[in-house]
Amino acid sequence: MKSNLKNIILIFIFIILIIVIYDILNYSTNEKIERLKDHKYTNLSMNMQKEFNQLIDVKRNTTLAIALLLAKNNYFIDALVKNKDFNLDLDSYSGILKEHSDFKNIWFQIVNKDGVSIARSWTKKRGDNILKQRIDLQRVFQTKKASTSISIGKFDLTFKASVPIFYNNKIVGIFESISHLNSITNELIKKDIFPVIVAEEKYKKQLIDPFSKIFIGDNYIANINAKEKQLEVIRRIGVPFFKNLSDPYIIDKKTKQLITVVKMYDINNQAMSYAILFKPLEKIDISQITQLKTNMNFYIILLVLIIVIFIYYFVIQKYNNFLKEEHKRLKLILDTQPNIMLITNTKTIVEVNSKFLEFFNKYSSLDHFLSEYNCICYLFEDFDDEDYIKDKIVENKKWIEYLIDNSHKILKVAMKKDGELHHFIIKASKIDSNKFSDEFFTVIVLVDITSEIKIKKEIEYKNKLINEQSKMVAMGEMIGNIAHQWRQPLSIITTAVTSMQLEKEFNRLSDEKFNKNCDLINKNAQYLSKTIDDFKNFIKGDRSKRITKVSSIIESFLNLVEAAAKNNNIEIILNVDNNIDLNGYENELIQCFINIFNNSKDAFKENNIKDRFIFIDSYILNDRLIIKIKDNALGIPENIISKIFDPYFTTKHQSQGTGLGLNMTYKLITEGMDGSILVNNKRFKYKEQEYKGAEFTISLPLN
Ligand SMILES: Nc1ncnc2c1ncn2[C@@H]1O[C@H](COP(=O)(O)OP(=O)(O)O)[C@@H](O)[C@H]1O
Ligand SMILES: [Mg+2]
Repeated sequence: MKSNLKNIILIFIFIILIIVIYDILNYSTNEKIERLKDHKYTNLSMNMQKEFNQLIDVKRNTTLAIALLLAKNNYFIDALVKNKDFNLDLDSYSGILKEHSDFKNIWFQIVNKDGVSIARSWTKKRGDNILKQRIDLQRVFQTKKASTSISIGKFDLTFKASVPIFYNNKIVGIFESISHLNSITNELIKKDIFPVIVAEEKYKKQLIDPFSKIFIGDNYIANINAKEKQLEVIRRIGVPFFKNLSDPYIIDKKTKQLITVVKMYDINNQAMSYAILFKPLEKIDISQITQLKTNMNFYIILLVLIIVIFIYYFVIQKYNNFLKEEHKRLKLILDTQPNIMLITNTKTIVEVNSKFLEFFNKYSSLDHFLSEYNCICYLFEDFDDEDYIKDKIVENKKWIEYLIDNSHKILKVAMKKDGELHHFIIKASKIDSNKFSDEFFTVIVLVDITSEIKIKKEIEYKNKLINEQSKMVAMGEMIGNIAHQWRQPLSIITTAVTSMQLEKEFNRLSDEKFNKNCDLINKNAQYLSKTIDDFKNFIKGDRSKRITKVSSIIESFLNLVEAAAKNNNIEIILNVDNNIDLNGYENELIQCFINIFNNSKDAFKENNIKDRFIFIDSYILNDRLIIKIKDNALGIPENIISKIFDPYFTTKHQSQGTGLGLNMTYKLITEGMDGSILVNNKRFKYKEQEYKGAEFTISLPLN
């Protein structure tokens, strides 16, 4: 789940990245495309303006040319010079042009030297002086040079060419040709440029009989071929906007037209009218630009694709490297482990360490192993112990699950290597899934305990042996004492019997002596029997805890060693508190005392000690019973004192020593009675004499 989320986030980031990259690239191409378009539109507007201006120039020049030609007409000169009021047929000239040229509407006027119009092609009206209103005519008279102008008069916006008519180098009049814009605008329309010629508001008044009859507000529209589609745009946006337009062009998004404006000036250089030129966008060839855009799109997509592939590759590469590193680290960790380790998923073993391959050295690699077994469980030996896992299924569970569920137990497996059985403690633990997948893994650790088990078995065997030997030793330690115990009564009995036999031979055995000796024999035989019982009780003695007085335990001990002590000239000096109760194992404690006593007895002999003492002290200290047994047999050499409780440690001859007496004592006290025993060498004074010997201190809990 966790890793899924991570993947989704990763993909999400990736997509965002792609979008951002695409957007940036797309934005910059669009920017470039817009710039190209702007460039194209600017150029186009300039061309439209240029075209318009050229057409105007052509018109102006043709109008002038016609006027120049007709001004040389002698017929007109004659009429002016002679100042004849005759009917000049200017209309027919217009007719000829209408018929044979593009000049569908061209008019002529002749003005005499006084400024009186003497002929007009468009009307019969004549004889009126127009010089006052016509500054341009005044200028022609002054400069004696032809002039052209665009102006707005009573009817329309017109081109005028005014040419002086000379006679004998004197101006006799002016010939004027006048034409409309319509031929220009028609020409433009043919080229998909739709013009609207808008006059300044101020001319509204003077247009008495407007030719086109079209107005937008107070602005006269001078071309009769202005289309409604364009007029609507001007109406919507308003004339002032176009008048003040400083940009080379604008785009009307609604009607999808490019619009550019050409200002037209009167002869006083005053803004007179505006040619608003429209070009439908669809008529503008921007295929190169759109082609560029498609090309760019292609490159962008290609670039994005490359980036995506690169990033993808990079991420994958990084991820793979990461996995490799992770794997290496894992492998290193696994390989440095002293135990066999393997990692499994739900289906198979996925990783093992070098110890694994060391153990299963039949296989060169994990794959090799897997080609034969997909589970290590097939190699578990059927070992007769309930702690051992023997099969794939344990208590209806898969063995791994069983291991995980019973992690508190120490479970084992046995496997064979080279025919030899190896024992392992086996542990399994689930590990949190890898960051990038949901699979769960189990780590299995096998701790080889074969040698420990061997050692344990050996120890068990040794202990068993020691225990058995200890029993024998206990008997031995005892028998020595029995022998001592029996020696005196046996010799009394033998003496009594022998003396009776002798006296009987000589017939001197009195009844009195016979009875006395029989009593003596009886008494001693009973003593022997009692000693036997004592020993039997002791040896057979059940191992039961009983509350007994410490003093009586010591007394029992003394009874058993009494004779031995006497025979060896050992004086036992007691300093025992009579009122201490011990809840303990009486017989075992007596056995311990005997073992200690026998060692002292041996040491006395070994060291040829003359005056032999054994001191037994008993008291309570800190709620514990303390029993100290001390002799004056010179003590235990310091270099061996730490070893005397070890099994089989002895300084005596093989036939004499077993090295088990003190070991038995130690075990009885520490393991059996929860007590402690320690040994020290002591120097002490007794009856003004300095002595040296070993002192054993036994400490026991009181109950
Ligand atoms: N009271 C003692 N004085 C001197 N040496 C002693 C004394 N008690 C024990 N030892 C030493 O401890 C050794 C071990 O005693 P023990 O375990 O009883 O074995 P064993 O008596 O068979 O040698 C003895 O061989 C002896 O060297
Ligand atoms: Mg001994």
